[in-house]
Amino acid sequence: MKPVEIKKGIYWVGAVDWDIRDFHGYSTEKGTTYNAYLVIDDKVTLFDTVKSGFQGELLHRIHQIIDPQKIDYLVVNHLEMDHSGSLPQVIEHVRPEKVFTSPMGQKIMQSHFHQQDWPVQVVKTGDSISLGSRSVHFLETRMVHWPDSMFSYIPQEKLLISNDGFGLHWATSQRFADQLDQAELMSHAAKYYANILLLYSPLIQKLLATVAEMKLEVDTIAPDHGPIWREPGKIINAYDCWSRQQAWAKVVVAYDTMWHSTEKMAHAVADALIDEGLCVKLMNLAFNHRSDILTEVLDAKALVFGSSTLNNGMLPRMADLLTYLRGLKPTGKIAAAFGSYGWSGEAVKHINEYLADMKLQVIDDGLRHQFVPDHPALHKCRELGFKVAQAVKDSGVPACACKL
Ligand code: FEO
Repeated sequence: MKPVEIKKGIYWVGAVDWDIRDFHGYSTEKGTTYNAYLVIDDKVTLFDTVKSGFQGELLHRIHQIIDPQKIDYLVVNHLEMDHSGSLPQVIEHVRPEKVFTSPMGQKIMQSHFHQQDWPVQVVKTGDSISLGSRSVHFLETRMVHWPDSMFSYIPQEKLLISNDGFGLHWATSQRFADQLDQAELMSHAAKYYANILLLYSPLIQKLLATVAEMKLEVDTIAPDHGPIWREPGKIINAYDCWSRQQAWAKVVVAYDTMWHSTEKMAHAVADALIDEGLCVKLMNLAFNHRSDILTEVLDAKALVFGSSTLNNGMLPRMADLLTYLRGLKPTGKIAAAFGSYGWSGEAVKHINEYLADMKLQVIDDGLRHQFVPDHPALHKCRELGFKVAQAVKDSGVPACACKL
């Protein structure tokens, strides 16, 4: 694949990772990209690099435009290894005059690579550098996605290089969002937000407000994962919606089951919710990856979790999901638990402890049933479903999802 000119004299020179399937616990079933951007100006500047192992691809793309040793500046917007893993090889090859990064970026760079002699220059929010005909303005975006993260803005081009922000994991041959299937595009964007950024939603709300106050003119957002947004309103609007954690009349029923008893309970709960007209996602943990469940959690108003009891606790896949979910800090959701058991039956209690820890609105003590549910037991499951449905309706959430 050739470099792609995204604006006159500005090129995508990153790498496409068609094969990655796990990104620290996130199922990247369609791969990802590590984007890097080359600006040809008086000071030839490379924005970000790629994961270790992809530096050959990066340098080969740059070679098709210019000798990489003619690069003057390297801007490192974020030090997570998917963007910085190839820094030692790239710096060794390019020998840039300066490497720009944020204050925290400098610390992490040192902690990762232990290099004293790299020509690092720290830049903070409000700092800018001249490339010749263009300038680069820096905006620290702490925790989007790490404390070192920053955006680079080129006002002459109305171009925002946003690193992890506005990214998504999807390996594609097309470089622009408007060239892709829009439903699949937004589904990958939602998954990325839910699994990478959900816990930073309050900071993202502040960041969107800051960018609006600064009145930055942006007609293109170039993130470091996934396609480039030439119509950025769409992804900005989605981030506003997701960072407010806007929910609608949708319920996720996620469960794991030992001998199908908890499964029967899950179906009865889900059936009652469906009968009440709600959108239901019934997700068996044996067949749904935690990161896909989080995508559905993102805009759901209620979460109902079911697990059989195993060794005085919940099933391991439920513990995995709840631990992952707790870290991502969903807010404003209604919750309940259920499960079948044989003789001790602690799973529901332990699920409720997680729900309380997450400060979700637990609307029921939890429904337990010993061994296989009979008709009266399934009726109780339906009652739990009706109770959740009523709570969702009483919350006043809209009947339809946020229009993206
Ligand atoms: Fe794409 Fe936080 O790294």
